[in-house]
Amino acid sequence: MERRVISTKMQEEDIKIESSLRPQTLADYIGQEKIKDNLAVYIEAARQRQEALDHVLFFGPPGLGKTTLAGIIANEMGTHLKITSGPAIAKPGEMAAILNGLSEGDILFIDEIHRLNRQVEEVLYSAMEDFYIDVVIGKESGAAARTIRLDLPPFTLVGATTRAGDLTAPLRDRFGIVSKLEYYTENQLMDIVSRSSKVFNVVAEKDAVREIAIRSRGTPRIANRLLRRVRDFAQVYNDGHLDLNVTNHALDALKVDGLGLDEVDLRYLRGIIERFKGGPVGLESLASAISEEATTLEDVYEPYLIQIGFVNRTPRGRVATPKAYEHLKINFNGTLFEGEF
Ligand code: ADE
Repeated sequence: MERRVISTKMQEEDIKIESSLRPQTLADYIGQEKIKDNLAVYIEAARQRQEALDHVLFFGPPGLGKTTLAGIIANEMGTHLKITSGPAIAKPGEMAAILNGLSEGDILFIDEIHRLNRQVEEVLYSAMEDFYIDVVIGKESGAAARTIRLDLPPFTLVGATTRAGDLTAPLRDRFGIVSKLEYYTENQLMDIVSRSSKVFNVVAEKDAVREIAIRSRGTPRIANRLLRRVRDFAQVYNDGHLDLNVTNHALDALKVDGLGLDEVDLRYLRGIIERFKGGPVGLESLASAISEEATTLEDVYEPYLIQIGFVNRTPRGRVATPKAYEHLKINFNGTLFEGEF
């Protein structure tokens, strides 16, 4: 599949570069003020009691900093971070091995935790609640299988998900701290882009920084990725000078529009308006009409389009709002704005 510059999915380049951009402490982390304030208290309290921090669940759209926060928690607690993901753990034995490898106070980060399969997830219940797992032995040898109890050191599970609603109740209930990450404001994104440009050692003008922030869909991962691409254009066309002109040129070339919407967003909106008379339309029908996966639309695209008031989710399906028509320069009756074409 084509690599999209505004995708929120982690790409290889992000993994390498994000780690150099990632703040290491709560003090360096921009935005999510409420989460930061609360975490600071929980971390301080756990440290004073010399206990592992309670299990933490972060949910919200991709690219907002769930992994970064897990790293900060490990750093602030002075412990290790182990990273895995729901789809990466196929069998209960693999989960048992990961848990058995933890040291006291370690942070185990499980990304996309809603995608753990049921048997794997069940291993977590006793591990999270009472720090032990039951391991079945002797199954293959033909001898009568028996279970032995394996005690684990106290640890902290940090789970991340784009879909809190997809978590089973027993898993969700075992997290003592549950936090929803919000989209970032323009000012917060400007601070993040400024900070990143310093890490990259490039001088960026303020209006260029603002333009990148505006087109980043409230998402630091996108802001940092756009900054890298704009930096390339600035290097080749503008002696490395990152001004508004070269920024607009780069972002237009990347087909990221004035609000940060890309071709998939626009196809999504046009799909509702042109194929389904503005809605309501069911997610599956819309997804197949524009050849995208329903889950991708729901997790990655819709949250932002809903946030900016372009789409409403109703019991009968998705509806495009007048604001979406206006952005696409289509009249409510479906004709194009006068004088546009
Ligand atoms: N880089 C990516 N996200 C960030 C954040 N929230 N604060 C500081 N730097 C970041």
